[in-house]
Amino acid sequence: MRRPGRGGSSRAAALALVSNGTAASIPPAQAAPLRLALMLDATATPDIPGPAHAADRRVTVMHLRDELAADRDAVHELHRLAFGDHGETVVALVRALRDDDPEALSLVAEEEDEVVGHVLFTRSLLDAPRRLVAVQVLSPLAVRPDRQRRGVGGALIRHGLRRLDERGVPTVFLEGDPGYYARFGFAAAGDLGFRRPSLRIPAPAFQAARLSGYEPWMTGTLVYSATFWQQDCVGLREEHSG
Ligand SMILES: CC(C)(COP(=O)(O)OP(=O)(O)OC[C@H]1O[C@@H](n2cnc3c(N)ncnc32)[C@H](O)[C@@H]1OP(=O)(O)O)[C@@H](O)C(=O)NCCC(=O)NCCS
Repeated sequence: MRRPGRGGSSRAAALALVSNGTAASIPPAQAAPLRLALMLDATATPDIPGPAHAADRRVTVMHLRDELAADRDAVHELHRLAFGDHGETVVALVRALRDDDPEALSLVAEEEDEVVGHVLFTRSLLDAPRRLVAVQVLSPLAVRPDRQRRGVGGALIRHGLRRLDERGVPTVFLEGDPGYYARFGFAAAGDLGFRRPSLRIPAPAFQAARLSGYEPWMTGTLVYSATFWQQDCVGLREEHSG
């Protein structure tokens, strides 16, 4: 869906941001109300005035919003493109997680009316000494290959963490590359007092971000929702032939 009314003011904001940095550097207070992030597309047709070295660049507007039912096909196609051979497995996981958790936080990044990124946060449990605690798991995250390395993934993660923080979620877990996720506040969960749900998750890949709802007694084992097990999407499996 086009949002023609936003063009003028977005352009003005974009020009200001070009000199300041990319979407990842927008302070939350500015980014949250509009849910806009502004991106430079170095490969696209020029349409902004500016210095000669920027003349081959076009500013595009990235809009972060909740996934709608009408986005589902585009979201699935995005995961097929981003995950390649594992694409169908991820699509099946996304479908099952949506069904499993009506409160799932499913966010899309949209540029020029196209879905270019998606992240899903769903509920799981932390088996803490005091009681079971509702926590969230970030999985999956994908950005369309032709739109990667431009801050889309980071914007989705930061926005998702803000939304979950507002809901009072204490901790968000994920399996992923610490080299990527550390910049968003994730750290090795084992060092924070958490135990991984499977030994097939490499210890450094098991990560957690503690939000403002976290309290020091909230330690223990992450218990994935049944969907992750039913879809066999926990940790790494040995390669085997035949
Ligand atoms: C991982 C992914 C979501 C990142 O999205 P993105 O929009 O390209 O990420 P950003 O633009 O916010 O960040 C880009 C930075 O992250 C780094 N990065 C991207 N993927 C990384 C990874 N797997 N490990 C370490 N760093 C990574 C890039 O090197 C880049 O850093 P640089 O700018 O310093 O060079 C995207 O590459 C993707 O969809 N990959 C395929 C699916 C996938 O692996 N998803 C994550 C597992 S669920």
